[in-house]
Amino acid sequence: MKKRGTLYGWLACVSIFFIVYALVKNYWIDPEASSFLSHKTGSKRELHLPIWLNVMYVHVAFACLAMESGLLNFSNRIFEKSRRFHRINGYVYIVSVALVVLTSGYMAPYATGGKIGSIGFNALNIIWLFITITALIQIKQKRMVQHRNWMIRSYAFCFTNMLIHLITSLFHLGFGLAYVTSYTVSIYGSIALLLVIPEFIIRMNFKSRTAPE
Ligand code: HEM
Repeated sequence: MKKRGTLYGWLACVSIFFIVYALVKNYWIDPEASSFLSHKTGSKRELHLPIWLNVMYVHVAFACLAMESGLLNFSNRIFEKSRRFHRINGYVYIVSVALVVLTSGYMAPYATGGKIGSIGFNALNIIWLFITITALIQIKQKRMVQHRNWMIRSYAFCFTNMLIHLITSLFHLGFGLAYVTSYTVSIYGSIALLLVIPEFIIRMNFKSRTAPE
């Protein structure tokens, strides 16, 4: 029980820190996304900057909302207090995921790294949507444990951007690989990690539920 509370505490810290970071960085420090866009030189597809930026603002807003609403719905305390809140907030999460995927669909063709990057992002979109819809179907069929597990899998994708930047920095700054190559590696590396890490968390969760008190 205590272990699960500690895991939630860590999750809350990382999520809140990242939400604040994403909002401050993208709406305040670098609203023109100039540092990110500076790596798009030589891209075959011409980017329409005002449209791209507006789509990016919507993308970030709903990504943060997905992260926040998802976090709140993992809280046992909130769940026990109000199932109605959990349900409404769950729909907020699903609509947010749909809007992140939609905006991502617009940005994907212009992805850093060209076609390979674009394919990776489209794969992410399809996988995330599929996993999230599966979580919804599970609860419609009243399968609580499966719903929780699929939501853990879905929520992991809220960390896509964080993971992409961490892996890119590791390969670019750490190993000296070119930025675009590092970014492309990070897209596929993130997909793999975002599929694998939740499986460990689900197992840990299962063990802590079945372990004697
Ligand atoms: C909390 C989660 C997320 C946040 C805060 C976020 C934020 C951002 C930001 C700020 C950008 C602009 C570039 C940058 O600085 O990275 C971006 C780009 C992008 N994001 Fe997200 N994002 C999130 C999740 C996702 C997810 C789950 C997907 C796909 C399913 C996605 C797809 C994309 C795409 C395709 C781009 C354009 C990449 C490029 O031009 O190379 N994002 N995102």
